Amino acid sequence: MRPIWTGLTVTLKLATSLDGRIATATGESKWITGEAARLEGHRLRAAHDAILVGVGTVLADDPELTVRLPGRPVDQPLRVVLDSALRTPATAKVATGDTLILTVAEPAPVGGARIQSVEAEDGRPAPRAVLTALAKAGAASVLIEGGGQVAASFLRAGLVDRIEWFRAPILLGAEGLPCVAAMALAKLADAPKFRRLSAEPVGDDLWERYDALR
Ligand SMILES: NC(=O)c1ccc[n+]([C@@H]2O[C@H](COP(=O)([O-])OP(=O)(O)OC[C@H]3O[C@@H](n4cnc5c(N)ncnc54)[C@H](OP(=O)(O)O)[C@@H]3O)[C@@H](O)[C@H]2O)c1
Repeated sequence: MRPIWTGLTVTLKLATSLDGRIATATGESKWITGEAARLEGHRLRAAHDAILVGVGTVLADDPELTVRLPGRPVDQPLRVVLDSALRTPATAKVATGDTLILTVAEPAPVGGARIQSVEAEDGRPAPRAVLTALAKAGAASVLIEGGGQVAASFLRAGLVDRIEWFRAPILLGAEGLPCVAAMALAKLADAPKFRRLSAEPVGDDLWERYDALR
């Protein structure tokens, strides 16, 4: 199931409403899923070498992207931000030395984060180049935590090996932000396909796990 050219396992984590939305139209997303699902989210982070988000999520939520598990010190995964034009504020919580910002711009300081330029695709860090950079940084696994645009890029490129989907029993409607942005699919046959491994309740939410079918 792994892309042979890097050996890196790519997991997409989604925390959504029943209708697959990750935020309201105004961008409110904390917290769609409950405490038990969030705890599993931290366990998933701890099980990966890197956690990746797009700059949209950094600007909207200013996340810490750290593992926070009660009573358990852990090695923190590498935090990775995809940021074509270096829009990450120097004051962002991720703008420290534990973070790698992958860009297509000329590297320039962003707080204490490491900045690396990678190959571009449509003016943004190319998903394959991102995985190559992470493999070179020593990561064997990456957890993609959104948002919808980054999820769509990796799905469209056929690079998602697993999905960990936490679905809360609320509905946000069509104006809510979809967990996967536009993928420009013309045919059903071109859709990325997955096999469900399990579905179990976690608190009030449902946790579905999927493996890519290739
Ligand atoms: N419910 C949840 O668990 C959850 C999780 C995460 C996010 N969210 C919500 O999702 C929203 C943000 O989602 P979003 O879709 O707007 O942002 P996003 O996917 O986090 O970031 C998108 C931005 O990343 C940059 N980017 C760089 N390389 C990219 C690539 N290869 N593919 C795609 N994007 C790339 C682009 O900006 P540049 O062109 O400037 O680089 C793009 O606009 C927020 O409202 C946040 O609260 C919810």
